[in-house]
Amino acid sequence: MRTKIVAGNWKMNCDLAEMEDLLGEIKNQLDSVSNDVHLMVAPSFTNLYPAFQSLRETNIHVAAQNMHQEQNGAFTGEVSVEMLKGVGVKNVILGHSERRSIFHETNALLAEKVNTALAKKMNIIFCVGEELKSRKEAKHIEVVKEQLEKGLFHIKAENFKNVVIAYEPVWAIGTGETATPEQAQEMHAEIRKMIADQYNSAIADEVSILYGGSVKPANAKEIFSKKDVDGGLIGGASLKADDFLAIANSF
Ligand code: 13P
Repeated sequence: MRTKIVAGNWKMNCDLAEMEDLLGEIKNQLDSVSNDVHLMVAPSFTNLYPAFQSLRETNIHVAAQNMHQEQNGAFTGEVSVEMLKGVGVKNVILGHSERRSIFHETNALLAEKVNTALAKKMNIIFCVGEELKSRKEAKHIEVVKEQLEKGLFHIKAENFKNVVIAYEPVWAIGTGETATPEQAQEMHAEIRKMIADQYNSAIADEVSILYGGSVKPANAKEIFSKKDVDGGLIGGASLKADDFLAIANSF
């Protein structure tokens, strides 16, 4: 049985006071969420420790949105894997399309970040997804395959237990335009096949693959009903407790 996951990527939103309000509202309604749904939130670096403290009595996990590939050193403004672990963080999002496009993170750089994270037993949510141009040219599967081959598929089979994949078509992020459930299912099935071909079908069957891109309460049920969709990586809608929990209740 694959783990069902609903993760909120808060991006550069929520100062400390706003986060405390949001976490308070989420915690108040936690009983409504089925125990078999694994909830996660990804606050900004400055809010990781208070989030960890606030959530330690709950089963909500905390993820960082990024980390540096080196262990330490003269990298002004960066945060290392040990720093994350030191404040209780065990999960990190790598390769989000905003990191790839705005901060020029390449597949090669992401491969290094993956290695650093896994070497320290950090769980990874590895994001992939094509831009609109590639989708229009019917190259979306090719693009995602290259992102996986260059950024992730060098890892050992045994490390896959620490990996979740998030398919986030760039054209559906923050645009209100969602991939159709069929488009999501097509890509998720392709990703699973790529993992089966590269590793084996047992690993492919076990890995959770999340969909991200304008998921909201109104569309989550249909997307999550698809056989290879194991949950969502939620941006905008995760900033409202009611919407986030409604999405978590959409399996
Ligand atoms: P939206 O849900 O706001 O489209 O963002 C998706 C996303 O980028 C999550 O990582």
